[in-house]
Amino acid sequence: MQDVAENIRERRCKRVVVMAGAGISTPSGIPDFRTCRSPGSGLYDNLQQYDLPYAEAIFEIGFFHRNPNPFFALAKELYPGNYQPNLTHYFVRLLHQKGQLLRMYTQNIDGLERHQVAGVPPEMLVEAHGTFATATCTSCLRKYDGEELRPEVMSGAVPRCPTCKGVVKPDIVFFGEELPLSFFKYLTDFPLADLLIVMGTSLEVEPFASLAGAVRSSVPRLLINRDLVGPFAWGRRPHDVTQLGDVVTGVKELVDALGWTQELDALMAAGNSEKCLISENFKTYISKFSWI
Ligand code: OAD
Repeated sequence: MQDVAENIRERRCKRVVVMAGAGISTPSGIPDFRTCRSPGSGLYDNLQQYDLPYAEAIFEIGFFHRNPNPFFALAKELYPGNYQPNLTHYFVRLLHQKGQLLRMYTQNIDGLERHQVAGVPPEMLVEAHGTFATATCTSCLRKYDGEELRPEVMSGAVPRCPTCKGVVKPDIVFFGEELPLSFFKYLTDFPLADLLIVMGTSLEVEPFASLAGAVRSSVPRLLINRDLVGPFAWGRRPHDVTQLGDVVTGVKELVDALGWTQELDALMAAGNSEKCLISENFKTYISKFSWI
């Protein structure tokens, strides 16, 4: 870890690729999918209420077309706006601000990395499993902004297209669907990378998982995760580094070793006060209508 930090600090690593999964958002309160630490607390262990034939069906496109209700019940819980980014998301932003992030590849659909949230600009972010930010009618393919669906999703209804009455599906990539075109940036990014940081993922879902093997064999790969996963468990390379345990603690240690702690704290404080300011402005705006 100290070597990795030194390489970043001395700017020997200037094209860092980050791969992330649900484990970076558990500190924000969002359950991951298949947690090993406390079986029973992963999302897939807690779907009985939706009466699914098997857990993964909730993200299967064939099942969705037959019965979209379970997905929308879950979408109500996971819809962006309910959760705040944590130190891991802000670390990626700081890496970008230092000019050392080549790209972040995330499997997360919570949008916490995004420009308007933790501040990672769109061109730096590949949301490999899609996003709630946009949606598409499954019948006429009309495009929607995710915010247009919010009232219906929050009321527990299945959003319908006003034009054709088809079900409007958030642009989340379901099993059985194509990954977004942006995913294929990996073809040029990974051979260029000079450091790969993998955090908060079980590396169980393909094709995302295989990206970890797409960096050159001389490139150091740092895993920050609760447990050993993917090639870190079964195909270690000489330059691989693993920091096992809580992801926030692991990233914090890296940030401390980099000497970036104050900057990161300032970034997080600014992010939080920005959100307070927005909500204060919103309150002021709303108060103007208090006569209603
Ligand atoms: P998983 O739930 O499969 O894996 C999360 C990983 O993060 C596990 O290795 C956990 O041990 C680890 N973890 C969780 N909380 C942590 C913490 N606080 N500190 C350190 N480690 C922690 O999630 P993903 O790998 O993201 O696909 O799952 C990949 C895909 O499977 C998802 O994108 C989703 C799902 O099916 C789709 O929706 C298409």
